[in-house]
Amino acid sequence: MSEAVLRTEGLTKEFDGFVAVDGVDLELPEGDLRGLIGPNGAGKTTVFNMVSGILSPTAGTIWFDGDDITDLAPHRITSRGLSLSFQITSIFPGLTVRENVLGALNGGAGMPSPIRRYGADAEKRRRVREILSRVGLETAIDETAGNLSHGDQKVLEIALALAGDPTLLLLDEPTAGLSASETRTVKDLLEELRGEITIILIEHDMDLVMGLVDSLTVLHNGQVFAEGSPAEIQGNERVQEIYFGRGG
Ligand SMILES: Nc1ncnc2c1ncn2[C@@H]1O[C@H](COP(=O)(O)OP(=O)(O)OP(=O)(O)O)[C@@H](O)[C@H]1O
Ligand SMILES: [Mg+2]
Repeated sequence: MSEAVLRTEGLTKEFDGFVAVDGVDLELPEGDLRGLIGPNGAGKTTVFNMVSGILSPTAGTIWFDGDDITDLAPHRITSRGLSLSFQITSIFPGLTVRENVLGALNGGAGMPSPIRRYGADAEKRRRVREILSRVGLETAIDETAGNLSHGDQKVLEIALALAGDPTLLLLDEPTAGLSASETRTVKDLLEELRGEITIILIEHDMDLVMGLVDSLTVLHNGQVFAEGSPAEIQGNERVQEIYFGRGG
């Protein structure tokens, strides 16, 4: 039996009396590739923000690898092996691919350039190449990040999230705004990572998510509305209603 990498109990977030996330219980076994889906405003990103420490829950508890991380600062959670990739791309477009990864290895990309330049010992240079080859970007190492295709920029962003060698990766809509072929690039990468890392994927592209994930959690109005395999969720009429019944 694999133990839970992530567990939440009663996870709740109120914004000025508005309950955005309402008593969410999650349990992710090691190696799971979990889809977190639900209509716009369901509370998906807010769950990620609480799990990664960006927002403090109003109520509830979060355990990561068995430890209570509810009140830890984001950098403490990251250093334990939990990595978040944002809904909005957060690479440094004016830096090279190498510099972006090096910045992430040096504990955050937002550091002054002398540290980036001189912080590259042989071991770090080896790690940069290793990470880039893992995501298939090794040939783009000297490219300016902003010149990459949107798909490759997203792959680079995932590479930055991998720099901390995470055991849990949270991906918020990694294919948003990508073309079909760019989406394919990201999908291929997620298939590569499957099983190696536990992943939660927020995704609106149902074709992508259903063909990729092991299991799904459906959020609706801040609550867990349904959970199950892709086949179970696709066959769930109530889930179809909240999706396709929305706005009509
Ligand atoms: N900082 C905030 N202050 C006030 N309300 C917020 C804040 N962040 C989110 N909300 C509200 O909480 C609800 C959930 O938002 P959240 O961003 O978690 O939804 P989501 O499921 O990620 O939606 P989407 O699919 O559109 O990204 C929404 O009604 C949103 O307007
Ligand atoms: Mg969101």
